[in-house]
Amino acid sequence: MTRPRRGRKHLIALVGLPARGKTFTARKLAGYLAWLGYPTRVFNVGERRRETLGPGQHHEFFDPANRDATAQRQRLADAVLDDALRWLRGDARVAIYDATNSTRERRDGIRARAAAEDRDLLFVEIVNHDPVVIEANLRETKLSSPDYAGVDEASALTDFRARIAHYESAYKTLRDDEGAWLRIVDRGRQVEIHEVWGWIPGRIVSFLTNLQVTRRPVWLTRHGESLWNAVGRIGGDPELSPRGREFAENLACFVRRHFGRDSDLDVWTSTLRRTIETAAPLGIEPGQWKALDEIHAGVCDGMTYREIAATMPAEFEARRRDKFSYRYPRGESYQDVVQRVDRVIIELERYRTPVLVIAHRAVLRALRAYFQQLPPAETPFLPMPLHTLLQLTPSAYGCEEVRVEFEPRVEESPDRG
Ligand code: F6P
Repeated sequence: MTRPRRGRKHLIALVGLPARGKTFTARKLAGYLAWLGYPTRVFNVGERRRETLGPGQHHEFFDPANRDATAQRQRLADAVLDDALRWLRGDARVAIYDATNSTRERRDGIRARAAAEDRDLLFVEIVNHDPVVIEANLRETKLSSPDYAGVDEASALTDFRARIAHYESAYKTLRDDEGAWLRIVDRGRQVEIHEVWGWIPGRIVSFLTNLQVTRRPVWLTRHGESLWNAVGRIGGDPELSPRGREFAENLACFVRRHFGRDSDLDVWTSTLRRTIETAAPLGIEPGQWKALDEIHAGVCDGMTYREIAATMPAEFEARRRDKFSYRYPRGESYQDVVQRVDRVIIELERYRTPVLVIAHRAVLRALRAYFQQLPPAETPFLPMPLHTLLQLTPSAYGCEEVRVEFEPRVEESPDRG
């Protein structure tokens, strides 16, 4: 019997030495897949160890020659794997198993469990040879870990390096007979893909091979007020209003001050006039993305919310009930917008230079929801006022937001759409 391939459930198991960025990768990947609409969660063995045994195990605990501790670590790893597999029995689509999984025995056990539950298993191995990157990772995440609370920095570093050495002594890299896997060496300098098929695994490969780990902000703003914003009409391709043009000038002054004349800032707009006109005073040729065009309101394009409510009450009510999934007749839903801005996210993750995105309310809500890892249901309601610049800086464990408000301030008509 052939198995239906739609709706498959995925177990993603990380592989790698400590301090290689596995947890950062797991969290970013979970945020991305959840944002795409696949319920995803991370299951972390280190956290379970700290909860169960308390933090602060010495490096000897991680020595493979320490039989008792090895058995204890195996039990913890099994318990977390149980949770991950149990979670997949519900509505979830992807479980990310965040542990070192650095021995062949450990991985063979995972493969047997995944096969028994008919889950698609993908190993993701993170290899890093660069001592500067390892040291930075160690200082950024490990020294502040509860494992080293109250321990001076030098002793913590010595202990953690000894822990890594224990893992190195037993580490086995993935081999060709281990099924589907992806290996990322030195942050993408080299990528190996082995027996990876399917849509979700394909999205994972595309995302992880482009992911940069450097802390680097992105700037998001809507276009200046358009002639249609001024009268409450949605969609279309209107020009900027006089107030919108004033905002564009003020934005350009700010950008010149903030980035300097010789900056490598890249500017991205949609293909609609209001964003291109907003970018014009910057004097930087923008990259134009169709994928950044505003949500397409279909038969409601050009109407006000009041007109929609009066002439198409059933549509208006359907959107009010489930704004994320609602699709305008012959138009788009927020869900559709997320799918099409996926490629913009991949590019933003790949870029190492600063990017200013000038786009539209719904599209920017979708981008913001990705960076701030917000649930789909909240996406259509995120505040995204005109003449306001958002600076978002993703970090290992969250995303910082700074807002800059510009003159002229404008009030928009109520958007109960
Ligand atoms: O009103 C400006 C606008 O960008 C419209 O073109 C678009 O339909 C709308 O905002 C999106 O916001 P909402 O999803 O809240 O209706």
